[in-house]
Amino acid sequence: MKRYFELISLGIVLTAVAGTASGQATVEHGEDWPDWAYGLLAPLSANDRTAPPCPADSRPIDCAYIGAPTPDDGIKRALPGTDLTFTRNEAYFDYGPADWYPGDHPPMPAIVANGRQEDGLRSCALCHYPNGQGKMENGHVAGLPADYILQQLEAFANGTRRSADIRKANTNEMAMIAARMSQQERQEVAEYFSSMPFRQMVRVIEADEAPQVRVTSNGLMLPLADEPMMPLGNRIIEVPDDPELTEMSRDPRGGFIVYAPIGSLARGEELVSSGGGRTIQCGLCHGPDQTGIGPIPSIAGRTASYTMRQLWDIKQGTRQSPIMTPIVADLSADDMLAIVAYLASLPPEGSSD
Ligand code: HEC
Ligand code: HEC
Repeated sequence: MKRYFELISLGIVLTAVAGTASGQATVEHGEDWPDWAYGLLAPLSANDRTAPPCPADSRPIDCAYIGAPTPDDGIKRALPGTDLTFTRNEAYFDYGPADWYPGDHPPMPAIVANGRQEDGLRSCALCHYPNGQGKMENGHVAGLPADYILQQLEAFANGTRRSADIRKANTNEMAMIAARMSQQERQEVAEYFSSMPFRQMVRVIEADEAPQVRVTSNGLMLPLADEPMMPLGNRIIEVPDDPELTEMSRDPRGGFIVYAPIGSLARGEELVSSGGGRTIQCGLCHGPDQTGIGPIPSIAGRTASYTMRQLWDIKQGTRQSPIMTPIVADLSADDMLAIVAYLASLPPEGSSD
């Protein structure tokens, strides 16, 4: 954190060049790179930890940052509206994490609830929650069109959807999970997640300050209690509404607060609704409320970090999308920041279906 402040206060913007021990391609980040969207607080530097190598024959879990196991404090934690209790490590069990609210979703397919331990394939519920609401560092899968889910699993599996940031290990793991799934499993998860509504989970606040944060190895930002606010600068900081419940219990009903620079919402609305001379109206394809049409996904009410990563990855070409590539071609990182703040503020349920 101290180093981060030094960087900001000196106004130094590093254009970093990193080679990695694992032989991954050297990547140069321009000074407009939105590190915040990847759950990172500083520009790529040669000293950075990069994602573990993840060759095609890896088990999905081998692609992840795996630290020493966290000792369980044994405390059974509770959440509002459920009689179930779980310890921290029960809530985090890779192959059967906490299902706090079984009534919130239909019966889970086995791969969603438990993954496949013998293959090192962690359960979808671990990262995306049983209800598919997901988090800023992964994504939201509830309510997406089944055809779109199938299309994206195929894109992860065949390498046409990757992260542009070589520090983002969980996208590599996601890709390997998709590569290891059978067609039947893909079909089951597509039906399961598309059958659930995506509920509002994000609140956008325009501000010039945001909480100081620490970041988990996967890119979840958590506010530091008792620290003064920090200058927001030209970026978005996104934190859970209730960090304790999100971090310790993986509360699937939890939400996020997006701190966005003042003026973002109006600028974002202009770009989204008219193209602002830089792009075309998003609603032409994503629907008048941006909640999706047919196989085209909703982009409303999702976390700002997730949406920003997608636009940036598409612009960098690591997420291949013949349709979206021309849409983002003339958008700057600042344009995208405004767009994703505005989109995050929209209700996920619209009238355009
Ligand atoms: C280790 C965490 C992890 C697990 C386990 C996991 N995912 Fe993901 N998933 C991710 C991440 C991270 C992303 C977003 C990638 C990005 O933003 O770059 C993602 C994205 C997705 C998307 C794309 C959503 C969109 O809107 O395009 C789908 C679909 C998906 N996951 C399905 C699944 C399914 C099905 C499973 C279980 C078989 C699963 N995931 C298990 C981490 C995970
Ligand atoms: C011409 C149609 C079209 C227009 C216009 C369009 N999109 Fe898209 N968008 C798509 C399609 C189709 C997809 C699904 C991915 C794919 O097919 O490559 C998509 C995917 C996305 C995604 C990824 C969603 C996810 O779940 O990961 C985002 C974010 C997105 N669009 C944002 C925008 C924004 C912002 C605009 C306006 C500036 C816009 N799109 C305009 C067709 C369009």
